Amino acid sequence: MSNNIKSILKETRVFSPSAEFKAAANVNDAVYQELLAKADNDYVGFWSDLAREKLSWSKDFTVGLDDSNPPFYKWFTDGELNASYNCIDRHLADKSDKLAIIFEQDGGKVEQYTYQELHAEVSRFANALTTQGIEKGDRVVIYMPMVPQAVFAMQACARIGAIHSVVFGGFSAEALKDRVESAEAKMVITANMSVRGGKSIPLKAAVDEALEKGGNSVNTVIVYNRTDDVIDMKEGRDISWQDAVAGMSNYHDALMVNAEHPLFLLYTSGSTGQPKGIQHSTGGYLLNAHITNEWVFDLKDSDIFWCTADVGWITGHTYVAYGPLSVGATMVMFEGVPSYPDAGRFWQICQDHAVSVFYTAPTAIRALMKYGDAIPNQYDLTKLRLLGTVGEPINPEAWMWYYNIIGGGKCPIVDTWWQTETGAHMIAPLPGVTDLKPGSCTKPLPGIDAKIVDEAGQVLENGDGGYLVIEKPWPSMVRTIWGDDDRFVETYFGMFNNKYYVVGDSAHLDTDGNYWIMGRIDDVLNVSGHRLGTMEIESALVSHPLVAESAVVGKPHEIKGESVFAFVVLNTDIPEGEERAELIQTLRGHVAKEIGPIAKPDEIRFGSNLPKTRSGKIMRRLLRTIAKGEEITSDTSTLEDPTILEQLMKD
Ligand code: PRX
Repeated sequence: MSNNIKSILKETRVFSPSAEFKAAANVNDAVYQELLAKADNDYVGFWSDLAREKLSWSKDFTVGLDDSNPPFYKWFTDGELNASYNCIDRHLADKSDKLAIIFEQDGGKVEQYTYQELHAEVSRFANALTTQGIEKGDRVVIYMPMVPQAVFAMQACARIGAIHSVVFGGFSAEALKDRVESAEAKMVITANMSVRGGKSIPLKAAVDEALEKGGNSVNTVIVYNRTDDVIDMKEGRDISWQDAVAGMSNYHDALMVNAEHPLFLLYTSGSTGQPKGIQHSTGGYLLNAHITNEWVFDLKDSDIFWCTADVGWITGHTYVAYGPLSVGATMVMFEGVPSYPDAGRFWQICQDHAVSVFYTAPTAIRALMKYGDAIPNQYDLTKLRLLGTVGEPINPEAWMWYYNIIGGGKCPIVDTWWQTETGAHMIAPLPGVTDLKPGSCTKPLPGIDAKIVDEAGQVLENGDGGYLVIEKPWPSMVRTIWGDDDRFVETYFGMFNNKYYVVGDSAHLDTDGNYWIMGRIDDVLNVSGHRLGTMEIESALVSHPLVAESAVVGKPHEIKGESVFAFVVLNTDIPEGEERAELIQTLRGHVAKEIGPIAKPDEIRFGSNLPKTRSGKIMRRLLRTIAKGEEITSDTSTLEDPTILEQLMKD
C-alpha cells in the first residue's frame, strides 16, 4: 500500500471552479455549508426534508429512518410513491413538450421523445406488461441493446411495481440463464438484434439458448424488433414488442408503492463465483439519484446531458433511466461504440446534440486519447460546460487531456466514486464548490458519512491507506442481496460487526481531506470500469473439460485499467506451439461463452501446478507479480513447491 500512496501524492495541481461557474451552480459555497451543517445536526431530518422537497409522494411518511434491525435499514418507511410517476408524470404540467430523450442510432439516425411522448410510450408498454400477466413484485429480466425501449421497459416495470433486473446485453446466454434463475423471472424483454459498430449481433438467440438450459420460471418473452432480421419466435411464449403494445392505451395510472418496495435488482460480481443480486428500494434510491443529478451534474433546464453508460450497469440506471428524468432533464442516448465509424464519434455526438454535461469512463477517455488531439479538435465542443468520470481511478494524464482537449480548459471534471451497491454518487466534487485534484474523487457528498479505517476499525486521518467504509446508512444503499440476507450481512457488514458498510476499496486521505481510491481489497478486477470477480472467471475456466485448476489475477493495462491474466493447470500435458495457441483461443472463447467477451482472459499461462502454501492456499500476490513480468523478491519459502514459479514465469 505505501508505494501506491507515495506515487499518488505526487499530484499537486489544483483546479478551482471559475467565478462564472460558481455563480450559476445549483450548489454554491453557501448552500454547501448549509447542507453540511444540516446533515451534521439532524441527519434523519436532512434526508427526510430532501425526500419531501425533491420527490412527489402520494402518501407522506412519518418515519425517516428505521434502524431497528441493522444492517437492514429502511428509509421513509410508511411513505408511498411511484418512481416512474416521479420521472415522467410530474413533469407533464410544465415540460410536456420538452425533449426527454435524444437517441442516436449506431448508423447515425436520430429519434427524439418529448416528456409527453415518453409518457405515452411507457404507458403503452406498462399496459402491455399488465395484459401479459405481470403483477406487482414479479421479476422481469431486461436484456436489451442501448435503445430507448430499454428505458421504456424499465420505467414501465416501475409503473406497475414489477421489479426489473437488467442484464447487460454483452453477457452470454449462460450468464443470462443464471440471472434469470436467481431472480425467478416471469418474463424476459429483449430485442431481435443489437446493433453496434456497424454489425448486428443476435440477442434473442441468446435468450432462447438461456431458456433452453433453464429459466423455467419464464413464461413470456417480449421481443423488440430493432432490425428487419427475422428470428425464431416460440409459439405461446414469444410476442413482439410491436404486437404487445398494439391497441394499448397511451394512458396508465402509475401504481403507488411503498418507499421500500424493491425498484430493481442488478447483478454484480463478487469475490465468489455467484453474482450478487443487488436489491434497491424505490424511495431511497430515487432520492439519491435525483439529488446527485442536481448537485454533482449541476443539471439545469437548459442542459443536454449525456451519460455514455449502458443500461446494463448501475450507471445506466441512475444516470440514464431514472436520475436525469427525475430532475426533468434532456438526455442523449447512444446505441453504438466510441470507435465507429471512427474515434470522433463521441465528439461528433457532443457537437451535433449540443451536449453540455458529458459523463463517461476513464477507459474510454484513455482509448480516445490515443488517437491524438486532431480528432476532437475537428468538432465544436464549446457547448460542454461540465465533464464527469466513473468506474475506476483516472490517471492524471488522462484527466489533463480530458480537461484541456475535450473541456477546452474551462469545464470542471467531476470524478465520481460510487458502486452498484451505493445506488448513486457518494464521494464526488460539487462542481461549483470543490477544488479539483486530478486523480482524486475529492470529498464525500453532504449526508455521506465516509471514513477510512484500519484493520481494527480505527479511523485513519493521517494519510495512511486503509479500508473505505460508510458509517451512517444513506437512503440509496443496497437493501439486501436478492434471496440471501446472510451473504448481504457478511459481505458488507461482517468485517466490523455491523458498525460500517464496507465498500471493498482501499483509499487514503490527503492533507486537504480529499479521498484517493487505491483499488479493491478483495479478489475483484476492474476491467474497463466493470467489476469482474476473479472466482467467476476461474469457475468458467474450470468448467472446460481440459482445465483442472485456474487462478485469475489482474494486470495493469494502459487503456482498460486492468486486464485479465489467467494461470491454468490442465488435465493433460501442456501442449506446445500451434496446438497451445489454439488451446488458448479455445479457452478464451469458452470464458466468453460462459460469461461474456468482457471477461475473456487477455493472457493465459499454463503450469503443472499453481503456487500454493503448504495449507493449499494459492499465493495470488506472487501470481500478480509474475503477471506484471516483475521479479519475485519476496519470501517464497512457505511455498509447497517453489520450482513452480520458474515454470509460470516463462511465456
Ligand atoms: O473500485 C471502485 C470502482 O468501481 C467499483 C464499483 O463498481 P461497480 O459497482 O461496477 O460500479 C461502477 C460504476 C459506479 C468501486 O468499488 N470505482 C467506481 N468509481 C470510481 C472507482 N474507483 C475510483 N474512482 C472512481 N471514481
